[in-house]
Amino acid sequence: MTAAMIDGKQIAADIRAQVADRVAERKRLGKTVPGLATVLVGEDPASQVYVRSKHKACEQLGIASFSHVLPASTPQKELVELVDLLNHDDKVHGILVQLPLPSGFDEEEVLLKVSVNKDVDGFHPINIGKLAQKGRTPSFVPCTPAGVIELLKTTGISLEGKHAVVLGRSNIVGMPVALLLVKENATLTICHSRSHNLPEITRQADVLVACVGKAEMVRGDWVKPGAVVIDVGINHVDDPASEKGYRLVGDVAFDEVSEVASAITPVPGGVGPMTIAMLMKNTLRAAELAD
Ligand code: GUN
Repeated sequence: MTAAMIDGKQIAADIRAQVADRVAERKRLGKTVPGLATVLVGEDPASQVYVRSKHKACEQLGIASFSHVLPASTPQKELVELVDLLNHDDKVHGILVQLPLPSGFDEEEVLLKVSVNKDVDGFHPINIGKLAQKGRTPSFVPCTPAGVIELLKTTGISLEGKHAVVLGRSNIVGMPVALLLVKENATLTICHSRSHNLPEITRQADVLVACVGKAEMVRGDWVKPGAVVIDVGINHVDDPASEKGYRLVGDVAFDEVSEVASAITPVPGGVGPMTIAMLMKNTLRAAELAD
């Protein structure tokens, strides 16, 4: 079997176009321009790239964006005070504190401080708590997990009653995507680096979501023939033949797995573009909630 490619770039572009239209419509009606504030602490190069892409997307879609860059030596209290200032700024509808924070910061205190109604990352414990409860709806859902579900739905892949296996249990992706899969009525298994017999577990998946952060860990024989494979990993591997000296690969050995799966996301161009598209959607929603 040669898997169908799930084109995250195209699906994300469609979502971004819809958001841009709705932002333009708000402006025509004299409503507030949606605004996103980002907070970047320290100088992690990957985080700098991600935050830059978020501002670029805002600019392209007509969303206002406000950048706050703080040194890693910033006291915790100052960071918390900045978040509170943004909570009270009417031009700011969404607040995004880029994670991970440098070591020494109390991430939990910072995320708790973000107003639930401006929590476009969906990381506030109240929003995560509601995600984990039956019959409750969080104000916002984390962007990468929401992007995974959107990719599946747009591609016409039903989750109802299917066995979904999530490989990884991070706060940012693994755990929230697992909770969303359950909300979609999938039967769920979460496994991770400490699980025994991983290939035996992943082979049971109708839908496999790999978000473990290990380059090409999922091999062809880890996947059931016909399964749908969503690769959230973005890993740099040395490649002297490439111009940059490295290339990006996912958590899935793409060539092998695409011989077995029925559908698969590429890296890059799969889940990655969806994260920013969902952030833009959440920021628009935050502005609509504030109307
Ligand atoms: N770090 C990696 N992914 C994310 C994300 O979606 N939001 C934030 N704030 N930090 C991240």
